[in-house]
Amino acid sequence: MCGIVGYIGNKKAEPILINGLYKLEYRGYDSAGIATIEKDAIKNIKNKGRVSDLEKTDGIENLEGTIGIAHTRWATHGKPSSINSHPHLDNSKHFAVVHNGIIENYADLKAFLEKQNYTFLSDTDTEIIPNLIHYNFVQDKKDDNFKFLRAVKNACYMLKGSYAIEVISDYFKDEMIVVRKDSPLVIGKGINENYISSDIPAILSYTKDFYLLNDNEFAKLTRENIEFFDENLVKLEKAPINISWNPLAAEKDGYEDFMLKEIYEQPRAIRETIWAHLPEISKCQMDELNFSKEYLEGLEKIYLVACGTAMHACLVAKNMLENICEIPAEVDVASEFRYRNPLINSKTLCIFVSQSGETADTIAALKLSKSKGAKTVAISNVSGSSITREADYTIYTHAGPEIAVASTKAYTSQIALLAVLTIYFAEILERNPVQVSNLKEELYCLPEKITDTLKCSNRVKSFAQKVYKEKDIFFLGRGVDYAASLEGSLKLKEISYIHSEAYASGELKHGPIALIEDGVTVVSVITTPSLVGKSISNIQEVITRGAKTFIITNQDLEGHTFDEVISIPKTSSYVSPILSIIPLQLFAYYISKEKGLDVDKPRNLAKSVTVE
Ligand code: AGP
Ligand code: GLU
Repeated sequence: MCGIVGYIGNKKAEPILINGLYKLEYRGYDSAGIATIEKDAIKNIKNKGRVSDLEKTDGIENLEGTIGIAHTRWATHGKPSSINSHPHLDNSKHFAVVHNGIIENYADLKAFLEKQNYTFLSDTDTEIIPNLIHYNFVQDKKDDNFKFLRAVKNACYMLKGSYAIEVISDYFKDEMIVVRKDSPLVIGKGINENYISSDIPAILSYTKDFYLLNDNEFAKLTRENIEFFDENLVKLEKAPINISWNPLAAEKDGYEDFMLKEIYEQPRAIRETIWAHLPEISKCQMDELNFSKEYLEGLEKIYLVACGTAMHACLVAKNMLENICEIPAEVDVASEFRYRNPLINSKTLCIFVSQSGETADTIAALKLSKSKGAKTVAISNVSGSSITREADYTIYTHAGPEIAVASTKAYTSQIALLAVLTIYFAEILERNPVQVSNLKEELYCLPEKITDTLKCSNRVKSFAQKVYKEKDIFFLGRGVDYAASLEGSLKLKEISYIHSEAYASGELKHGPIALIEDGVTVVSVITTPSLVGKSISNIQEVITRGAKTFIITNQDLEGHTFDEVISIPKTSSYVSPILSIIPLQLFAYYISKEKGLDVDKPRNLAKSVTVE
């Protein structure tokens, strides 16, 4: 889940690499390191801690090399420490490697290398890679322009697991080799210089032309050239893609944190996501998909598969698809779905939702569904991300780069896009036209309603200041309000480290109510008109047992007393979490701020979960 960055050109590599690491730090921040090719050797500087610690490390200012690789780590094998930090060198110190991923057979390979008298300094799986490259390099008796590439390729042939790797060597002072399998890596093309990164925004200020590697593809980079090869080192032709994102979109733009900026970007994110597919004409347009009426009529089931927040967006969509399209829909956590032998055939449509498009479990679940004969649709926020290249069809949210680890604008954009998809299916199927037209109207009004909802910020902040020291906070809701509660609770635990659970309100009396005691905070979302009475009864049950209550509602709850009520605009129940989540995002944000925590980079988490 780490971030890797690389540079080969005529400029000093160090400031470019450090700048890239800062942008990638959201992917992991256990340690950071950099290696450059200096006049006579590889110079490797690394440290436990953040990129800012690396920047202060002695010697970094003396790096003059114009070729270099760098890494910000999310430790999988070996605790966060200087010695376990990347880059890792081989025993001869002629090859340096940074790696994102996990080498599953590293113990066997380590034993193999130890028999060949290689020794190891770190506890990482990664350190075997430079040594395997060295091993294959010295075994290779051929001496030609591809010797370095061949050594990397032969080493990769021995690896099992996932990897995006950058390799430099002081034997080859004008070359860099990169490869990827199940971990992200993009190549940015410049003029007489080239860049590598784990994601596009990190190097968007240098170039807008990108090459994407598929699994098991290699690239050999010089300053002037990039050559691509398949797993057998057969040459490949690739065309660059041009990315239209504005580099400023990946900056804080005056906000204290990326998360706050991204919360406030939601009106724009939703508007652009909806308008991309639902311009004000009679029918929804989704040129990316070409489903016939016969195909949709024949569907026995739709699976919505994702992880974390994206899975919570799927929970909201389940209702819409079942009620408006009249197709049974099931939501699955990707890491469960892929191991439970789900019933999939050609009458199953599988939809995979992933902001980053790089989540390992979601991609694996997609591959499984494809192999069983289902059609697959990816919903992603990142152009050209791995999931979009695996799926039969892709539709994009237009949230713009999301940098904060806690997802906000991607979540609401995913719900909006799933609503558009529901409309698209229902229009082809000619089902429930009145519901379709009502939902469409509501979608157009959402950006303005989000702007209105954001006005609750100060009241939410005041309540957060009252409860930020609590140990447990509970969330309750019914139907889509339960889905929103799950997401609100996840936001809170991610960035405030307060223990939190969300329960379906009706389940309370079946166990969880035992946890309610004097002074405990209970947050409840109440937006579904038909369920208001039942929800209020559940809140009364916790008030009776001493709970403090924080209510998010678009209903008239006059006559009832709560500790704080945040009123939000009314909208269609199908998409109400797009509004009800906003006070909950702000609630988590302000609690985290009160506690003095790093909102954008919460402990133990990373933005793209590229390990299984
Ligand atoms: C969101 O706040 C979380 N950081 C996390 O649950 C995230 O939604 C999950 O890892 C899925 O990521 P994806 O959308 O990039 O696949
Ligand atoms: N498995 C490697 C390690 O623990 C790389 C982890 C990562 O992707 O950051 O060092």
